[in-house]
Amino acid sequence: MTQSFQKVRALTGMKDVLPDTSAQWEGLEATVRDWLAGYGYRNMRTPVLEHTRLFTRGIGEVTDIVEKEMYSFTDSLNDEQLTMRPEFTAGMVRACIEHNMLYERPQRVYALGPVFRHEKPQRGRYRQFHQIDVEALGFAGPDVDAELIVMLARLWKLLGLADIRLELNSLGQAHERAAHRAALIEYLEQHKSVLDEEALRRMYTNPLRVLDTKNPAMQAMADNAPRLFDFLGEASLAHFQGVCERLQDAGIAYRLNPRLVRGLDYYNLTVFEWVTDRLGAQGTVCGGGRYDGLIELLGGKPAPAVGFAIGMERLLDLCSQAGEAEAPPECQVYMIHQGEAAQRRAALLAEELRDAGLRVIVHAGSSGFKSQFRRADASGAKAAVILGDDELASDSASVKWLRQEDAGEQPQQESVGFDRLTTVLKNRV
Ligand code: HAM
Repeated sequence: MTQSFQKVRALTGMKDVLPDTSAQWEGLEATVRDWLAGYGYRNMRTPVLEHTRLFTRGIGEVTDIVEKEMYSFTDSLNDEQLTMRPEFTAGMVRACIEHNMLYERPQRVYALGPVFRHEKPQRGRYRQFHQIDVEALGFAGPDVDAELIVMLARLWKLLGLADIRLELNSLGQAHERAAHRAALIEYLEQHKSVLDEEALRRMYTNPLRVLDTKNPAMQAMADNAPRLFDFLGEASLAHFQGVCERLQDAGIAYRLNPRLVRGLDYYNLTVFEWVTDRLGAQGTVCGGGRYDGLIELLGGKPAPAVGFAIGMERLLDLCSQAGEAEAPPECQVYMIHQGEAAQRRAALLAEELRDAGLRVIVHAGSSGFKSQFRRADASGAKAAVILGDDELASDSASVKWLRQEDAGEQPQQESVGFDRLTTVLKNRV
């Protein structure tokens, strides 16, 4: 009796990156690492799994992420509440505290990798997505806020991206937010009749987020609500001005958006987002800001900090709109053989070619010349090296140049002695 097995598919909102597109990811990652090194940022890697309380405390209980988007579970082996990281910042701060990294000097650090949020998937919004996360820990001044933004402008330029604009706001300090919050709650109480269910639920717990609504029926109410910016004191305004002036120095345009509050609770003073109209509904490519209270909140010695994260899927979507990246070839040399002796010799010759730094595929198994040539063509190799009985007898290989432009003045196929094979291929592929 034959048994049929059902296919197992990837989870909704979680995507495979296949070899053809993986090259684009690797290219972006290489550019990003160089770009970050240019500003003194060093890589770190933190675990995907953390204690749930790290995120509830760090990101805030009354946020979309903590309320409904975290992949959390109880580890039945030791009854611990664990969560797959929904962002990097909390984990990076935890690690820096745990390893006493902030006692000696401030730290410029970054991480790349997957993060997890149980959101409704659509273009640009996934349940497993990837962030480039950059954090400057232990820096208080507006110079570092501005440097991070200038850095991002450089990245867009390096990647040939236009049409990304900067939105900027200041969330002030806790006491300023408290004064604004009281005024805002009073205002919301006066406008209860237009608030939707979510707004009513949040008006006392997170009233600022009520203004971040997408509900058209609430727009007018939100537009006329008391603005946090108007509650900022002298020091907060001076910090904000310090950032703005440095952006002007660098020739970076920005729009002051007093409604920009971000979806995580740890921010104070500067917050910013880079947005584009080229990605449909999910147009925020990068978001960040200052979070001077988080290190203390997570048990560290109080220290200021600022950072941002870029969504890699969104960035790659923009990059591929800017210019179609071609998948690089699988190899430079493809080895074709006929008969067991030739196959074994091909395997040894390939090792010699790899010693010289060439990328080589040896045809696996035995098949006819025609089908081996088809594979060689599809591999993108510039040369096929052919071995059969005649070649073995004369200690030479037939080399066929597969790309017309590489043949030059030479014949399309030539016989090359084994002793010269590495040199000839190395010079021509
Ligand atoms: P965030 O705004 O939640 O900030 O996320 C940063 C970026 O991740 C977004 O601007 C967007 O490009 C991308 N992103 C968010 N959700 C999704 C999703 N479901 N699918 C695809 N891409 C997504 C943070 O995570 C903060 N930790 C940033 C930060 C670092 N602030 C200070 N330091």
